[in-house]
Amino acid sequence: MTDTSSSFDTPLAHELAEIRRRKQALASSSLPLPSKTRIITVSNQKGGVGKTTTTVNLAAALARSGAKVLVIDLDPQGNASTALSVEHRADVQSVYDVIVSDEELGDVVQKSPEFDRLYCVPANIHLAGAEIELVSLVAREQRLGRALRRYLDSLDEPFHYVFIDCPPSLGLLTINAFVAATEVLIPIQCEYYALEGLSQLLQNIQLIERHLNPDLQVSTILLTMYDSRTNLANQVAQDVRDHFPRETLDTIIPRSVRVSEAPSYGQSVISYDPNSSGSLSYLEAAAEMARRGVMPKKSESTNGEGE
Ligand SMILES: Nc1ncnc2c1ncn2[C@@H]1O[C@H](COP(=O)(O)OP(=O)(O)O)[C@@H](O)[C@H]1O
Ligand SMILES: [Mg+2]
Repeated sequence: MTDTSSSFDTPLAHELAEIRRRKQALASSSLPLPSKTRIITVSNQKGGVGKTTTTVNLAAALARSGAKVLVIDLDPQGNASTALSVEHRADVQSVYDVIVSDEELGDVVQKSPEFDRLYCVPANIHLAGAEIELVSLVAREQRLGRALRRYLDSLDEPFHYVFIDCPPSLGLLTINAFVAATEVLIPIQCEYYALEGLSQLLQNIQLIERHLNPDLQVSTILLTMYDSRTNLANQVAQDVRDHFPRETLDTIIPRSVRVSEAPSYGQSVISYDPNSSGSLSYLEAAAEMARRGVMPKKSESTNGEGE
C-alpha cells in the first residue's frame, strides 16, 4: 500500500508545492525603488478592517526588499508601534509631540528592530487628546504634513516609502494624514457591510484633494481577511473589483492565524513566519505596489476645476 505517486497528490503536497512556487516567484526578481518618496496613508474609518496589519506588513515587506521605509503611527492605540517593537510608553516622545508641540519629526523617529531599513514614529495614549487640542491650533490640518516635509527634506538618504496608519475615524488626525500624503491605500475587509461608509470616505478624500492637497489620490485598494470558503467573501471581492478595477490589487490577503499572532511578539508576519500564506500574500501585495508605481491621476482629464 505504499503508492508513492499518490503521496504527491494530497492537499498538503499541493499546498507545499504552491508555497514553493510563490516563494520562487518572489525571490526571482528584485523590486524597483521609487525615484520620489511615496507617502501612503492607510485609511478606512471602519475599525478592525486591517489598516494597522496592512501598514506594518507592507512596510516590512518593502524594507525587506531593500527599500528605506518609515511608518508613522497616527492611532492613539499605538498598535503599529507595538507590532514594530518600537517603544511607545506614555513618557516616550511620539507623533503627538510633533503634531501638537511642534517637535521635529526627526527627534521622535525610532528604528524598528524588525528590518534594517525600517523606521517608526510611535504613537501613545497622549494622541487620544490631540483631536481636541488640534482644533485651536493654527494650520491644524497641515501640522503632520509640514513636519514630514521638513524631515524628508533634511535627509541625505531619502525614504522610499512613508506609511501613515490612521485611526478609525475621519477626524483631524486622519485629515492631517490625507494632507501629508500623496496616496491613499484603503484596506477592505471581505465581509458583509464592507462597502458601507466607503462613499463617505471617498467624498472626504475628494474634499481634501480639492481644498488642501491637490496631489492626493486613492492609489490602492487591498482586500483583506479573505476566506475563500465563503461565497460572501467572493462576492465582496468581485464587487470591489467591479467598482475599483484600477485601484484594487490582484493580491488578496487571506484570513490567517499567523497574521493575527505576529503583533503579540512585536513582529510583522514577514519575520514571524515568512513562509505562511499571510506573509507571502503581503510580500506579493508589496511587490505589486512597487511594480505598479504611482499611476497618473485619474481625475486629471475629467476635472476641469483646477485647484
Ligand atoms: N489577514 C488577517 N488574518 C487574520 N487576522 C487578521 C488579518 N488581518 C488583520 N487581522 C486581525 O484583525 C484585527 C484587526 O486588524 P487591524 O489591522 O488592527 O485593523 P485596524 O487597524 O483597521 O483596526 C487584529 O486583531 C488583527 O490581528
Ligand atoms: Mg489600527
